[in-house]
Amino acid sequence: MNTWVRRGAIGVLSLLALATLVVGIALQRGERKLARRIDVPAQPVAFYDDRAALERGAYLFRSRGCADCHGSDGAGRVVVQDANGLFVRAPNITRGARTVAGYGAADWDRAIRHGVKPDGRPLLIMPSEDYNRLTDADLGALVAHVRHLPSAPGAAAELRLPLPVKALYGFGVVRDAAEKIDHTLAPAQPVAEGVTVAHGRYVANSCVGCHGPELLGGKIPGAPPDWPAAARLAPGEGSVMPRYPTADAFAAMLKTGKRPDGSAVSPVMPFASLREMNDVDVRALHLYLSSGAGTQASSRAPGKSGGTLPALTGAAEHGAAAPPPRPEAKPSADALPAAAATAFVLASGKS
Ligand code: HEC
Ligand code: HEC
Repeated sequence: MNTWVRRGAIGVLSLLALATLVVGIALQRGERKLARRIDVPAQPVAFYDDRAALERGAYLFRSRGCADCHGSDGAGRVVVQDANGLFVRAPNITRGARTVAGYGAADWDRAIRHGVKPDGRPLLIMPSEDYNRLTDADLGALVAHVRHLPSAPGAAAELRLPLPVKALYGFGVVRDAAEKIDHTLAPAQPVAEGVTVAHGRYVANSCVGCHGPELLGGKIPGAPPDWPAAARLAPGEGSVMPRYPTADAFAAMLKTGKRPDGSAVSPVMPFASLREMNDVDVRALHLYLSSGAGTQASSRAPGKSGGTLPALTGAAEHGAAAPPPRPEAKPSADALPAAAATAFVLASGKS
């Protein structure tokens, strides 16, 4: 064999060996990560069975995605079955089903708000980051509904990930919910239900799993390659919100899955749930998502063009920890208004 060819072949082979080694390490790290035990401050959930709680719980189950994945009867279903090898079956969570039969009062909080199974291992697919900010009352209502679902036949969870996704999970590019959640935050304080920015901010927590913690949009890590990037909901360049100047236009899109120009939004958006949202939630959501444009916080937020929303996660619940805006102070890092500062901390992954 010609020496050049031979050398080339050796080069390719060692590259291949290196790649195999790197992927091998990533896969091993992924296995270890999935087997890790996470200690979270889970609280016992109050078990309600009054009518108001059951109605609220049924509403949340329909409109916040649970029914979409677990089925409206809670018996579980195949959520994703992708040609590239991603397969996800959400488990049966009705009464007596294997997954939840042994659940104690704190296990509901651990799974739903923290993304952690009773044995301390992480959930992988379920977007608990969307639910971490649920108030105690809403979590209680949701659990009341689930616990009252009639027993139905259905399978346990089944997850199969394509190799590249497993490797990305090992490297931390794909993160599970428990990694994304700040488990030290106290449960969200209730805000009055109404068409207000505060209530809209509360509802918008159920969008972060796909649209990101600051609703900046972008590729959803680990998603099948044919899924479009999630849209930017936060104000600024590329935001889709200018397309929805009125709450009516926004509500129509959530109900029909169509943009104002008649084109279809990708069905990756969970319209089966979003269409169930009541008018107050939808209008509050629209108000919140339209609220950040041109705020002072925005012009100072590093690396952003044109705006941030009032911060979704944490700051308000921490109360005194977040300094009030000091507009006349010198533009140093600690003079950033609370919202921008929180956004910055989140963006630099130190939350
Ligand atoms: C995107 C799909 C999806 C959504 C939305 C979703 N789940 Fe899940 N859920 C899953 C999958 C998949 C599992 C299996 C565990 C995993 O993710 O690794 C699961 C697991 C669970 C478990 C059992 C955890 C365990 O002990 O193994 C409970 C309880 C649960 N979900 C309740 C809910 C509730 C309540 C909601 C709504 C607030 C919800 N889920 C929303 C997909 C989903
Ligand atoms: C399962 C992932 C997922 C969840 C959860 C989700 N979205 Fe989306 N959303 C997407 C994707 C992906 C797109 C991009 C669709 C496209 O380009 O066709 C999108 C697009 C949008 C758009 C742009 C529509 C347009 O005009 O093109 C809006 C507005 C939006 N989402 C709002 C929300 C809100 C509000 C929530 C929470 C209540 C939410 N989404 C929850 C995945 C999601």
